[in-house]
Formats: sequence, C-alpha cells, structure tokens
Amino acid sequence: MNIKILSANSHLYSTQRLVEAAKKRKHDVEVINHAKCDIVIEKKNPVIYYKGHKLDHTDAIIPRIGASVTFYGTAVVRQFEMMRVFTTTESQALVRSRDKLRSLQVLSRAGLGLPKTVFTNYSKNVKEIVDQAGGAPVIIKLLEGTQGIGVILAETRKAAESVIEAFNNLQARVIVQEFIKEAGGADIRAFIVDGQVVGAMKRQGKEGEFRSNLHRGGTATVIKLSDEEETAALKAAKAMGLGIAGVDMLQSARGPLILEVNSSPGLEGIETATGKDIANSIIKYIERNV
Ligand SMILES: Nc1ncnc2c1ncn2[C@@H]1O[C@H](COP(=O)(O)OP(=O)(O)OP(=O)(O)O)[C@@H](O)[C@H]1O
Ligand SMILES: [Mg+2]
Repeated sequence: MNIKILSANSHLYSTQRLVEAAKKRKHDVEVINHAKCDIVIEKKNPVIYYKGHKLDHTDAIIPRIGASVTFYGTAVVRQFEMMRVFTTTESQALVRSRDKLRSLQVLSRAGLGLPKTVFTNYSKNVKEIVDQAGGAPVIIKLLEGTQGIGVILAETRKAAESVIEAFNNLQARVIVQEFIKEAGGADIRAFIVDGQVVGAMKRQGKEGEFRSNLHRGGTATVIKLSDEEETAALKAAKAMGLGIAGVDMLQSARGPLILEVNSSPGLEGIETATGKDIANSIIKYIERNV
C-alpha cells in the first residue's frame, strides 16, 4: 500500500514511529509536508502537487496537522478525500475538533459528562460568569492555550474576577470552568483507534500542581480504565467523528468528565507509558479500510 503521512516535521517522534510501523508491514510510506502542497481545483479531476510532482497512487493518508496550520492542512486532507484516498482523520472531524466551543457542544449533546463550562466573548459581566461556573475556586483557560500554559486556578472570587478582567483587556478569549478538585492534579488520556481503546495512561502533576501536563513536569503511568471511563472515551471519539483520538478526562465524584478530544494525539507519551505499539495499531486500521 502507498501511505502518506501529513506532517510538518519528519523528525517528530510520532511521525518517525508511524514511518517505522508502516515499513515494518511492508508499505511504501512517505512524509509529506502539507504546508508545501499545492492544490489544483477544476471541474472534477482533483490534484495535489508536492515539490513539483503530482501526488497520485496514494492509498491512505495519516494527517498529523498542527493547530497552527489547521486551515490549510484541512484543505489538503479534503483534497485527498476528493481523490478518494482513505484518511485516518476526516477533514470535517479535524476542523470540528479544533474549535473548543463547538467540541464541547457536540460532547454535551452526546450526553457526556463535562466540567461545567462558561464561554465569554469579552464579556463585562465578570461576576455572573464566575457564578455560572459554580463560584470560586474556578479554572480559567485561554482559548488558544496549550501544554498547560494559560490554564489558571483562581482560588477566590476576587482573583477570578481580576484575572478575567485582565484577559478581557488583552482581548484574549477565555473559558471559565468548574474546578474538579477531586481529580487531584491528575487526568487520564485514552488513546482510541477505530472504536477501540488501544492504550490509556494517567498523568499526575508534580507536587502542588493542579495541571497534569507532562510539559509542566507531570508524570505518566499506564492505567486500566473503568468500564464507565472506557464507554465515555469511545462515545466521545465517536461523537467527534474521529477514527484516531486522544480523549482527556478528569476522574470526578460524578464519574468521568471529558476535558478535550485531541485529533492529532502524540504517540511518545502513550507508547512510553504503556509499552504498546500504537503506531502499529494505526497502520492496521488503514489495512482494514483500504
Ligand atoms: N476543570 C478542571 N478541574 C481540574 N483540573 C483541571 C481542569 N481543567 C484542566 N485541569 C488540569 O489542567 C491541565 C491542563 O488543562 P487543559 O488540558 O484543559 O489545557 P491544555 O493542556 O493547556 O490544553 P490542551 O489540552 O488543549 O493542549 C489538565 O490536564 C488538568 O490536569
Ligand atoms: Mg491538556
């Protein structure tokens, strides 16, 4: 089979592991930088050019599109779809997953547990927003944040109000969310491929830190999900329309609460924590579908 991995950086762990796993199963595999693809659109006959060559004979693509290039990356994925190439992540699902507000609405409609969340569009009603989120302590998140940066725990109403006001002044959009104290500075990541959990880990923040991000000094260990957690994770991936998903959940007194569903989940943390060959599961997913 001819498999192309859409990735801006061929040196990334995830990209390299996917190349390795595809080769091991005797496929032709190539890393394509989606940002350097040209798309040709006319009546029918969709074509993609990469470094001056026409890309044909592709059987499947694995999109690994960074958040900063969602717009163009998605257009390239869509073009492959028009060429009837199988994709492990559909363009529609990719776009949906990158919109945090829309994602939470989709998950809520699917009946999944979520931390109560308030979105604000530079609102001046700071007091009401904090009330809506259940009062202090609350979590305040920058909409564009990642790796735990821009996630703040405001212990008191006064602190919450001044942080929200400060962000409003900077014209930075934020989410205000109920603080799930009993999660104990940990979250769980379920890695899903084709309707199955292929690995799960618990990430624990360092001492005194409520954020479990590995980039913030957290540590990851393999865990076995409860039936309830597994069901929630699978349902979340399905609601988002994702064949491959990293579902992040908080363990709360009222069961698992979905934090986020990642459409390009990294392989390094999960393969290291679980010792599983997840890249291989992804290649096998392609083999079943092409
Ligand atoms: N409502 C909450 N209650 C308790 N802890 C939370 C809550 N929201 C987030 N956390 C903790 O903070 C960490 C970072 O939050 P989150 O995952 O939402 O942001 P991020 O990692 O910066 O963004 P992204 O996951 O989109 O890259 C979580 O992994 C979790 O440990
Ligand atoms: Mg996170």
